[in-house]
Amino acid sequence: MPPRNGDTLELTIDTLAYGGQGIGRVDDFVVFVRGAVPGDRVRAQIGRRKQRHAEARLLEIVEPSPVRVPAPCGHAGDCGGCEWQTLAYAAQLEFKQRQVVESLEHIGGLRDYELVSIAGMEHPWRYRNKMEFSFAESDGRLVLGLHRRGSWRKIVETTDCRLASTRINGARQAVADACRALGLRAYDRAAGRHETPSGLLRHLVVREGRAGDLVLNLFVSARFAEEGELAAGVADACAATTFAVTVNASRADAAAGDEPHLLFGPPFFGERLAGVDLAVPLTAFLQTNAEMCDALYRLALDFAAPDPQRDAFDLYCGIGSLSLPMAREAAHVHGIEIQEEAIAAARDNARRNAIANADFRAGDVRRVLKETLVDREGSPPPAVVLVDPPRAGMARKALARAAALAADRLVYVSCNPTTLAGNGAELRDLGYRLARVAPVDMFPQTHHVETVALFVREG
Ligand SMILES: C[S@@+](CC[C@H](N)C(=O)[O-])C[C@H]1O[C@@H](n2cnc3c(N)ncnc32)[C@H](O)[C@@H]1O
Repeated sequence: MPPRNGDTLELTIDTLAYGGQGIGRVDDFVVFVRGAVPGDRVRAQIGRRKQRHAEARLLEIVEPSPVRVPAPCGHAGDCGGCEWQTLAYAAQLEFKQRQVVESLEHIGGLRDYELVSIAGMEHPWRYRNKMEFSFAESDGRLVLGLHRRGSWRKIVETTDCRLASTRINGARQAVADACRALGLRAYDRAAGRHETPSGLLRHLVVREGRAGDLVLNLFVSARFAEEGELAAGVADACAATTFAVTVNASRADAAAGDEPHLLFGPPFFGERLAGVDLAVPLTAFLQTNAEMCDALYRLALDFAAPDPQRDAFDLYCGIGSLSLPMAREAAHVHGIEIQEEAIAAARDNARRNAIANADFRAGDVRRVLKETLVDREGSPPPAVVLVDPPRAGMARKALARAAALAADRLVYVSCNPTTLAGNGAELRDLGYRLARVAPVDMFPQTHHVETVALFVREG
């Protein structure tokens, strides 16, 4: 008999779901238990129940799994991040690789390719070069930190987040202390639609470059009189190289808003990836793990095998961080990216590195490719098209146009194996065979996994 709502049961966890929860079974009925790892014997209470599966709350670990390890982080019980930190790192890598392989097979029907073993980190902590902290108030005290597990409103004061460097944690502390000293209040968007939001402080985004830059972007509901004093105090306390204030006047709970207003420092930070010096604008995308980004780019360039006699494309190129190293080995690289600011940075980065054989166009990949296909009619096809889309993957039309460029190779960099699998199946129908797959652990202690996949044009 399948369990009912509220039932408490004991079960063994067999595997992990793509979202990170443990999966156990009662006959054919599937139970998802957040916080449980494969091999655990747990007691759990059935919550949200559907026809064939249910989510259950972990009540007790009756017998811990051999791959369970003590949580190293002091905030582990409260904070919503790092849901896999109780899983031994070798087991994390094994499950991530398995999830990539299973997604490709079950969603895309893709098999018979060469699998390159997942690349992991030697020290899988303190790797993030970007942290987004949120402000809140708890019993009248200002709090700056990360979301409490399962809550959008409550914030845990993460004094030592182990995914962030001690310098980024120091910046969080410096900003929290300075805001408290100035008596600034957290923004409260108010519960009712007709109530007026109150307070000022919304988010703090901290980004760090390996050569020493530390940029702080403070998201607020409106410009405020104490900005200069706050920036000066924070600069002294944590040696920030840039401090900006960004107004987000909307109710949406996101670190987004108007143009950043610089209080000091340049509007970017420096990073060096794959042998190229990059200036990264405050709001542009960059992989959040610089060490593994180097590994990812090495694999992507190796799979791409650019040809010095032929063109290459880099779709979703961001600030040109992959286009530029590729340009050193190709005849010419064409980068396409929707964010204007990122395209301006890509052009600037090309100049910084004296790379003249790359051009960058701002716009939606789907639309720009339509024009490109007309412009290139009669030209020889590129040797390679590299794509690195957001989590949702590529829309069918954009993918069909990328395939219509008729490159010998299409290298797909993906942060979501489920959409890679769907797009991979579409590519097969468009004449591309999946030849090689390399998972990369860009996000240790979480269930996320990055993958580089090589598709080869048939016929
Ligand atoms: C995963 S990031 C990859 C960026 C870059 N390749 C890198 O390694 O840093 C995806 C990029 O796609 C861009 N993007 C999102 N939707 C797009 C679209 N429809 N057309 C063009 N670019 C898009 C985003 O702005 C972002 O820079």
